[in-house]
Amino acid sequence: MSVIVLIGTQWGDEGKGKITDYLAKRADLVVRYQGGNNAGHTVVVGDEEFKLHLIPSGILYPEKICIIGNGVVVDPAELIQELDSLSDRGVNTGILYISDRAHVVMPYHRLLDSLEERRRGNNKIGTTNRGIGPAYKDKTARTGIRMADLLDPPRFAAVLKENLNEKNEIFDRIYGVKGFEFEEVYEEYRGYGRRLEKLVQDTSVFINESIANEDNVLFEGAQGTLLDIDYGTYPYVTSSHPVAGGACLGSGVGPTKIDKVIGVCKAYTTRVGEGPFPTEDTGKFGEQLREKGREFGTTTGRPRRCGWLDAVVLNHAARINGLDFLAITKLDVMSGLKTIKICTSYLHNSGEIRHFPANIGVLGECEPVYEELPGWQEDITNIKDFNDLPLAAQKYLARISELSGVPVALIGVGTKRDQIIVCKPHGEFY
Ligand code: IMP
Repeated sequence: MSVIVLIGTQWGDEGKGKITDYLAKRADLVVRYQGGNNAGHTVVVGDEEFKLHLIPSGILYPEKICIIGNGVVVDPAELIQELDSLSDRGVNTGILYISDRAHVVMPYHRLLDSLEERRRGNNKIGTTNRGIGPAYKDKTARTGIRMADLLDPPRFAAVLKENLNEKNEIFDRIYGVKGFEFEEVYEEYRGYGRRLEKLVQDTSVFINESIANEDNVLFEGAQGTLLDIDYGTYPYVTSSHPVAGGACLGSGVGPTKIDKVIGVCKAYTTRVGEGPFPTEDTGKFGEQLREKGREFGTTTGRPRRCGWLDAVVLNHAARINGLDFLAITKLDVMSGLKTIKICTSYLHNSGEIRHFPANIGVLGECEPVYEELPGWQEDITNIKDFNDLPLAAQKYLARISELSGVPVALIGVGTKRDQIIVCKPHGEFY
């Protein structure tokens, strides 16, 4: 048995869905531990494409148990819609449980998200507008509503009233917009509570029992290290902990129970939303990556900003997450390039920078220092063995490993489920 945490090493959208799907096949339990429906995983099964936002990717395997942990913020309307759309498409889904301690995204969180963004003007974060930040804000302000509250009518009524008193005043006085009626919100959300009641439980107990039973457990991180509220490009981050440490907090499992941490790293870099991005290519090459890599947001459809791989970012992620292994995704997108660049440090007027800086002002002034490697022209989408990859591709992967100090275990060479190279022995998890 093994307990594995899978995280994104960049700004999210690393192709975690594909790797999660590969590992989920071998896991008994798949757990989401942070974020909400701001996330988006695309999994291709046969000729069908599934876009999941809240439900762990393991749901596409009928015998798996999926958990939405306490660290996730749950928009119940979205969750129900996702469940219904899977059953409408005839997917024989696994079992889903939701933590009774998970916070609920309320309609006022969504409205606040868009109003706050508008108010930020040029300093906007570029959020997904799903109410994620305001929901986490209420959680830490100790005014949030949890799944357990949704199932307890008198308590739900009391906390909702308190919240609406405060939020409606904010809508009225600060934003000059209409707020929410108690009855309407209460009825709608009690309906969601009734629908989801059977799925809600103390999932920390369930996961820990599963670990004690020697089940294979996979913690599926959403977003990425550079969007972490502490370790990302603050304030251009999300409001949760996508890093490996977040798996413990967001699921009620102690750090001694985790066996391995795998970091997913795209063969190049992308980000959506605002904030500095040292290796961004705003020219032709960035556009080429966007088209070839289909780099458009799963959740918002926004075009992603694209650029070369950044080893300063990767080293930061390797350290913060204590990475054991790397899964490199979308290597096929790099085929056909004459040369490939990797950023190895930043040049700033204060000198050379090797560790990812906290100050985003400094980050914004950094120039990437690149080293250049030969590219390869061959199509690699059907390759199954590392040794069959073009030598230049092998060298690129070896250099990524060398710069980060983390061995490569899995390599994605296409969108389909089986377009994956398992590097022996590292990639034989579970
Ligand atoms: P929020 O999570 O909606 O508050 O958005 C905060 C920042 O995180 C924005 O830059 C979003 O574009 C980014 N973000 C949130 N979720 C994802 C994701 O799943 N992939 C990539 N970026 C994300």
